[in-house]
Amino acid sequence: MAHLLLVDAPTLTCIKGATPGVRDDAAMPTQSYPYLLLLHLLGAIAFGGTVFFEVVILEGVRRHVPERVMTLVEGGIGKRAQQVIPWVLLALFGSGLSMAWQYRAALANPLASSFGLLLAIKIILALSVFGHFLVAMALRRRGRLVSGVFRGIHLSVFCHVVVIVLLAKAMFHVNW
Ligand code: HEM
Repeated sequence: MAHLLLVDAPTLTCIKGATPGVRDDAAMPTQSYPYLLLLHLLGAIAFGGTVFFEVVILEGVRRHVPERVMTLVEGGIGKRAQQVIPWVLLALFGSGLSMAWQYRAALANPLASSFGLLLAIKIILALSVFGHFLVAMALRRRGRLVSGVFRGIHLSVFCHVVVIVLLAKAMFHVNW
């Protein structure tokens, strides 16, 4: 990833050579693309890392900690996440949408190329993640985000994120 930022714009286009002609570099100054990609990657790490922590680490801790303590910890984490995650999602979706604009030709006809199809599925799954977030926020506000629902939403988002990351890499390396 880091080496992408050190190369000039024409070289960058060559690196993305797995999708020749798919990206419309005229749609935005080419120099801004690597910074959007960096922001997107940092957002994906922050978001994916948070979900990984909650599903894999926190759930593993549950059986070693009294229920009362766990409820307090989950409440604290939930409050902090409510402050931080909206900004992470803003960076992730804002940069993702800006980059996707350059691929709008491929997205307009997703069945015409493997890249277009994989990117379209990736975006649909990302929108589903956003839907999960909105549902969780609405339930929390109404005091109906009980532990079982909370865990179910986390597990579903975790599975989404794993598939999204696989698709994000596959779309540049898998061709049919
Ligand atoms: C949960 C939400 C999302 C996650 C976890 C995620 C994750 C990723 C990852 C890991 C990459 C690969 C970055 C790299 O190779 O350095 C990527 C690439 C990309 N994502 Fe996302 N993404 C998300 C949402 C979105 C959304 C909402 C859009 C557009 C509407 C989007 C559009 C793109 C595009 C166009 C690329 C290709 C960038 C490139 O390598 O040139 N992503 N995403």
